[in-house]
Amino acid sequence: MNRIIRSCSNCALYEHRKNAVCGNGSISPEIFLIGEAPGKIEDESSIPFSGRSGNLLRKSLDSTGISEHRIYITNSVKCRPPNNEKPKMEYLKICNEYLKSEIELLKPKVIIPLGNTSLTALTLITKVKYRNISKIVGEKFQWNGILIFPQFHPAAVLRDMKRLEKFDKVFLEVTKILKN
Ligand code: URA
Repeated sequence: MNRIIRSCSNCALYEHRKNAVCGNGSISPEIFLIGEAPGKIEDESSIPFSGRSGNLLRKSLDSTGISEHRIYITNSVKCRPPNNEKPKMEYLKICNEYLKSEIELLKPKVIIPLGNTSLTALTLITKVKYRNISKIVGEKFQWNGILIFPQFHPAAVLRDMKRLEKFDKVFLEVTKILKN
């Protein structure tokens, strides 16, 4: 699938990208994280969350006992939208086939959508309408035997560091649940 993603031209985002950014991480992950879209740094490195948001995310995962080998990180769309705009619904829908396949192939125990865009992308798969992310961080949902823990996007935490405590708490809860 990654070969197909790297040469994908199914939507207009391919015209602006340097690189399509495939999901990255364990091939049998316990935890599957979904971001929004690659930014400038990811567009260059081809690695999801390799910029500032990623630094905060990885630090929080590490400090709450979630090591890299347990996770897989991907994005709702695999190509950088121009000017870091939010990806349009049209692009989310087109790229959703890849996200759906990643979930089906990797069969994670836990899915963590980071922010509202990834919640929307997840809704296209689960057909469950979730409330705004700010209302449901700290809650968990079940879908097809998978636990879903909605989480702030790390960029939202960078914008308001008061959210960090809640952000860490979600990952702590995931660690606790996976131990049982
Ligand atoms: N980097 C990513 O790969 N995804 C995001 O959503 C933000 C930064």
